[in-house]
Amino acid sequence: MKKALFPGTFDPPTLGHLNIIKRACTFCECLYVGVANNTQKTNAIFSVDERVEMLREVTKSLSQVKVTSFPGLVVDYALSHGMDALIRSLRTSSDLDYEFAMALANRRIGDIETNFLMAGEGLGHISSTLIKEIARNGRRLDAFVPKEIEEKVFRRLTSAL
Ligand code: COA
Repeated sequence: MKKALFPGTFDPPTLGHLNIIKRACTFCECLYVGVANNTQKTNAIFSVDERVEMLREVTKSLSQVKVTSFPGLVVDYALSHGMDALIRSLRTSSDLDYEFAMALANRRIGDIETNFLMAGEGLGHISSTLIKEIARNGRRLDAFVPKEIEEKVFRRLTSAL
């Protein structure tokens, strides 16, 4: 595949996200990782610019990855930037209903397919919410977020107590 978009909130990026990015790079010539900046999640801990910066840091060795942010609908950004497909991940069956609806809506609006990758082994339990709870209770995050951003994420989450 020439060009694909992996959209998300990434508040913060996790080892689960990085695993999906690396695996998508095995079949995408160019992978855009897009931070949505109009998400309905209004209680973000990190600004959109901080999330973009963290994603750039953890993907700097992956030459085909471009990290960006976008307003509005995923499908509009994807179409205006010539994406061949969207990439999303499924962790457990509880992700399925939401992802199914979004994939169908995006195909209906923009005639664009969504390719799903199953979460990596041992990473299906990770979520941004879980990470926030763990850090707020004083536990380090090495098992959940990339090492390059662990300190920043831990400090921010503990100072947000
Ligand atoms: N590993 C670890 N965690 C993962 C993961 C993986 N492989 N895949 C998802 N997650 C987690 C995230 O950490 C996040 O956790 P949280 O709910 O505790 O915060 C959760 O799963 C979902 O996050 P994400 O994949 O970033 O999706 P999202 O639902 O927050 O955002 C958008 C998806 C960006 C597409 C969407 O919400 C959005 O805002 N789009 C813009 C408007 C639009 O186009 N809507 C669709 C209309 S059809």
